[in-house]
Amino acid sequence: MSPPFRHHVLQFHRWAGLILGVVLVLIAVTGAGMVFRPQLDPVINRDQFTIAACHASLSLDTLISNARAANPSGGALTYIRLYPDTNAATRIRFSDDQWVNMNPCSGALLGQDDRYGGLFGTLALLHSFHFAKNGHVIAGTVTLAFAIMLILGGFVVWWSGKPRSGRNLSGRTFPQHLHKTTALYASLILLTSALTGLPQAFKWYRHSIYLLTGSPLPAPMSPSVAPAGVRRLSAEAVWQHARSLMPQARQAQIHFAEKPDDSVDIRLIGSDAPHAQAFSYLELDSYTGKVLRFTPYAKNSLGEKIYLWTLSIHYGWVGGLFGQLLLLAGALSVPVLAYTGIGSFLRRKSKQPANKKLLLRLRKKTVEAEGICSFELVDPAGKKLPPFNPGSHIDVYLRTGLVRQYSLCNDPRERRRYLIGVLRTQDSRGGSQAMHDDLEEGSVLEIGIPRNHFPLVSAAKRSLLIAGGIGVTPILSMAEQLASRGADFSMHYCSRSLLHTAFLNRIKSAIYAQRVTFHFSEGALSQRLNLQTLLSDPDPATHLYVCGPVGFMDAVIDTAKKNGWSNERLHREYFAGGISNSDRDVEFDVKLASTGRVYRIAKDKSIVATLSEAGISIPTSCERGVCGTCLTRVLNGEPDHRDSYLSEEDRMKNDLLLPCCSRANSAMLVLDL
Ligand code: FES
Repeated sequence: MSPPFRHHVLQFHRWAGLILGVVLVLIAVTGAGMVFRPQLDPVINRDQFTIAACHASLSLDTLISNARAANPSGGALTYIRLYPDTNAATRIRFSDDQWVNMNPCSGALLGQDDRYGGLFGTLALLHSFHFAKNGHVIAGTVTLAFAIMLILGGFVVWWSGKPRSGRNLSGRTFPQHLHKTTALYASLILLTSALTGLPQAFKWYRHSIYLLTGSPLPAPMSPSVAPAGVRRLSAEAVWQHARSLMPQARQAQIHFAEKPDDSVDIRLIGSDAPHAQAFSYLELDSYTGKVLRFTPYAKNSLGEKIYLWTLSIHYGWVGGLFGQLLLLAGALSVPVLAYTGIGSFLRRKSKQPANKKLLLRLRKKTVEAEGICSFELVDPAGKKLPPFNPGSHIDVYLRTGLVRQYSLCNDPRERRRYLIGVLRTQDSRGGSQAMHDDLEEGSVLEIGIPRNHFPLVSAAKRSLLIAGGIGVTPILSMAEQLASRGADFSMHYCSRSLLHTAFLNRIKSAIYAQRVTFHFSEGALSQRLNLQTLLSDPDPATHLYVCGPVGFMDAVIDTAKKNGWSNERLHREYFAGGISNSDRDVEFDVKLASTGRVYRIAKDKSIVATLSEAGISIPTSCERGVCGTCLTRVLNGEPDHRDSYLSEEDRMKNDLLLPCCSRANSAMLVLDL
């Protein structure tokens, strides 16, 4: 399949799955519940459906009379289902949709049940959407869409997706794989079930079976002619007439006339019928008993036979227990598909950064230390700002076209301002210089809503916060929240000197001041941070958070690991990208799934830059592998992750990549672009 087509099918498949999923799960689960109805109904309602063997049945008229006495307000007689020569109850239905189950031998009432009541009746009601006007059309439409879009689409995508094999699948990849595998095995069963259910929902669908097989469409019922003064035939007379035409009938369904000129519609199933819905059709004049139509099953047209087979297949009455189990497995696979499919979709979405932007006014710009300014941003109308958690950062869109990420360092409980701290550096593209030089109090600037890749672990019993230089910004916000919660924590703040220590006064006057230790690299050796001493006792209840220059963070993390700190308790935030270019970088190819075109990525260019030159734009923000804006799905190939956005676990799966900085370990990457 060509990549563009596959891409569109996949998109269609996802959205159709999400939109139709809930309805489909309802149809499938209720369908699954009814698969074993023929076996379970007589067991659950044994007293209603089973009688002791007897040799002679009472007349139907007697049974109807007794049934009417049991259900005096039931209205007109509409339907009888009987099983001659068996020990099954005769079921009589009136216009109130109540079944009255009678013992055909004794004429005794066995019980009553609502057509759409009880366990199976309710399942049938839900399955066919009988509770809604034109419910069968709703159920049929969803089923048709399911058949076309999901099963065929999913099946095709599965085959053309070339799933990677030979790998141990876990984490996010496992549900995706489970989704595909379940879909593959279930698709044939589900497709069969869906297609065989559609003739009951749509007349046009049923008629197309006749047209395709060159069969005549079902003829309308012939009218009965009521001679003056002649009453309708009794039910027993109707039944005896039918029996005379098919003595070996093992089941009869008699639909009684509603209007004066309606004939009696009888469906008979012979003892030699090939399946449970192999009807022979009989129409009798309601008054004279004249045979208006009699079509034994064998004489039915091919189209009619196919239609009847679809009924039996859809109800799971073909293939015995094996057929029923297959149908059950197919139906139960729908909730599995919904769970794995929606889960996969949501997980993917949750990795997509939000693009919403805010226009904020710079209310205050403060020099906090040598080369460091804080910027207080507020809504121009004084409105509340979107909430944030400790460790969150915002994108700041600069007039120069640059986008930079800065951690929020104020108390997360504050809702009317964002505070960021910016160190002026010799940044190659001038982001921090633009912040320091171009922005004046009163300037209005565009920012992204807060995102958090560096959250506090709420279950941690103790927290150890370590900040290096301007890396103090997210750490400050964490300290504020931990202190407000009364949590146990300590903070170490390393900087060059007092002059280079931002937010010094704020920290010294904070309620958590006693928990903070300052370390100055230009100060006495004795007060410098001794990582080995600090991290030598890896308390399993403590989580460590570090933010600062890359080298500083590497030193902290390496020392912690050497001292036995587990990965799950080590958390870091890059306030600048940790991209490393290497002389060992080589060229590789990138193929776009949507067009199939292949682009060569030079060893000194990023994927984003190369594609941009070819007119293909990928949204970016930091261009340093920090923000996640350019996150892209990898359909094939092995990425060489150079970002600081994806977790170790995400990286292991190799199905996502930050193309602004990451490269490839394989000769080709196929991207979902
Ligand atoms: S643009 Fe920020 S991670 Fe790629």
